[in-house]
Amino acid sequence: MKKKLTRKGILLAGGHGTRFYPATRSISKQLLPVYDKPMLYYPLSTLMLAGIQEILLITWPHEIELFQKLLGDGSQWGIHLEYTTQVAPRGIAEAFILAESFINNDSVCLILGDNILYGDGIAAILQEANASEEKGTIFGYYVHDPERYGVIEFDAFDQPINIIEKPTHASSHYAAIGLYFFDNEAIEIAKSLTPSNRGELEVTDMSRYYLQQQKLNIIKLGRGVAWLDTGTPSSWLEASNFIQILEHRQGLKIGCPEEVALRMGYINKAQLIELAKPLLKSGYGQYLEQLVK
Ligand code: DAU
Repeated sequence: MKKKLTRKGILLAGGHGTRFYPATRSISKQLLPVYDKPMLYYPLSTLMLAGIQEILLITWPHEIELFQKLLGDGSQWGIHLEYTTQVAPRGIAEAFILAESFINNDSVCLILGDNILYGDGIAAILQEANASEEKGTIFGYYVHDPERYGVIEFDAFDQPINIIEKPTHASSHYAAIGLYFFDNEAIEIAKSLTPSNRGELEVTDMSRYYLQQQKLNIIKLGRGVAWLDTGTPSSWLEASNFIQILEHRQGLKIGCPEEVALRMGYINKAQLIELAKPLLKSGYGQYLEQLVK
């Protein structure tokens, strides 16, 4: 019988957040709220929804206690959370090196702490990517301003031919979102990288390596999916407004780890009631309570 694939999760929540100064001089951007909950609840929920329960959070040394205070060891949500630090923002790909012992012999999924993914059918897409034996899977999303991102280029037959980090002139509208499913080779690939012109170990170079080796599956997300990045004050406000409008209209929360934990069977209803109790003065706690009812 084939051994069941285990995949570890990495939630990358470091960086200086300089595009958010002065708001992020004393606190991590990923701890700021996006509408009614901390920013990093959204990518954490995405990992949990994919079926990933062992997660390493990487952040600044002086921020780690704040994250620990917020998330603990994850057991309240039926997951296992570990923490490690990145001392300087040397690039997203460095996360795979910092996480080497945590990943061990398993495959890995990295999500950026400021990426929000929402849409009908997204859970199935994530779970399929998690269970897949592809060596690498990344996601392309159509945007009007691809030059701000890693851009996936396609040939005339719609086959991916290259991935370029922030090109001056993008030949495609498909941005690579901040979510990467890689096999265990990711650690060695990351170690072999040299810093880019902006002095970072680029995750785009890793994706390009997988592509060149014909080991990369690229999933184009359709227009029914919302991929929001919260990289600047404007995109952060837009994301907050988006979440507020949908939550208010439907009465359902987006990016609620407690709800994901319940629906994924990581916790039961009795555990959810306990989690709701200290939060009942907020709409968030009341939402958890009525989920059980
Ligand atoms: O959002 C998707 C984009 O993310 C991709 O399309 C790009 O290919 C990828 O390089 C990245 O683009 P940015 O250059 O805009 O990423 P940024 O520097 O803003 O970092 C993204 C998040 O990762 C941010 O929350 C900070 C965190 N980070 C970043 C670096 C470079 C770290 O924790 N450590 C780091 O060393």
